[in-house]
Amino acid sequence: MTEANSQGSIERRSRIEVPMSRPDIGESEIEAVNQVLRTPYLSIGPMLERFEQAMAQFVGARHAVGVSSGTAGLHLCVVAAGIGEGDEVITTPFSFVASANCVLYERARPVFVDIEPDSLNIDPRRIEAAVTSRTRAILPVHAFGQPADMDAILEIARRHNLLVLEDACEAAGAEYRKRKAGALGDAAVFAFYPNKQITTAEGGMIVTNRDDWNELFRSLRNQGRDVFDTWLRHSRLGYNYRLDELSAALGVAQMERIEELLTKRDRVAQMYTAGLAKVPGVSVPFLAPATTRPSWFVYVVRLARGIDRDRVIQELQARGIASRQYFTCIHLQPFYMRMFGYREGDFPVAEEAAQSVLALPFYGAMHAEQVDYVCSHLREVICCH
Ligand SMILES: Cc1ncc(COP(=O)(O)O)c(C=O)c1O
Repeated sequence: MTEANSQGSIERRSRIEVPMSRPDIGESEIEAVNQVLRTPYLSIGPMLERFEQAMAQFVGARHAVGVSSGTAGLHLCVVAAGIGEGDEVITTPFSFVASANCVLYERARPVFVDIEPDSLNIDPRRIEAAVTSRTRAILPVHAFGQPADMDAILEIARRHNLLVLEDACEAAGAEYRKRKAGALGDAAVFAFYPNKQITTAEGGMIVTNRDDWNELFRSLRNQGRDVFDTWLRHSRLGYNYRLDELSAALGVAQMERIEELLTKRDRVAQMYTAGLAKVPGVSVPFLAPATTRPSWFVYVVRLARGIDRDRVIQELQARGIASRQYFTCIHLQPFYMRMFGYREGDFPVAEEAAQSVLALPFYGAMHAEQVDYVCSHLREVICCH
């Protein structure tokens, strides 16, 4: 039913719906959340600590601090780093907007540096030219679950006395030269929105080896209370960025299955790579040699120049297949253009990537039949271009 014939055209088959993503929730997750509901501890309870311990151990970091979202975690990293008005943070324009917004929250300036054309991560060869006397940190993003070139980034940071804050929101489980993403900089943040490798519904986790930051993060996420503060005493300006117990329980159950979840996603990525190998005009994701383990967050292909991506998205949608442009450049978001005067052409490699990327449906429970359905319809849509 689902085979392409020798001419490469597709046998007509029944339509199936393929969503963009879907969380992998089993009975153990449902049971873990239900158990919390049978206790009086819906926030600030034992599940958060268990989730934090599991994450710290998995990443190989001294500390893990659960927070209400990846964005909240990134914000706290910027606060802990003491970054403020007049400071600059070097980051990538090819990312989800939160990786630069967290710098704006503290009235500092994100300074964008263009990306590598193949890995789509910040290009370390361009970083040094962007360092000024105001630069305080580098904030690399491990885009789509592939680590940025961290050795080169850490070396530049060392030379210029800069902090390194890793946005590992898309990269739980990824490895850079056999070291886990998230254990490489001064602090890193993971995110657990339902399309991520593991989910807590909403949620995030900061990991760090710094003892002073560990305590600071715990205070900042909890309205500025220090360990010895009473409920109504606040030692510093803080936030309510706590992760609730229901989310933490979900996280604990997902962490127990993390290798299974990552392996399932890897299997789907391999099926796509094989299925798309001979689809003209489609390039499969590039993996850098330093990426000793990718952690597949999304499966993003590049379309050759001349292919109308919007039409491809529409025609796939008409066949029940979700797909989307992923990412849109941050510097071309309307409010960045207004605030900083950015224009098209400022970061050409990122812009070229943003124009050609197409994220296909991707989640660990995808069946071979669904992957095959997507690949053959993508081929048909592109070939009839
Ligand atoms: C690269 C990156 N940074 C930050 C975030 C923000 O995470 P959250 O949605 O949990 O706030 C995301 C989430 O999609 C992301 O992909």
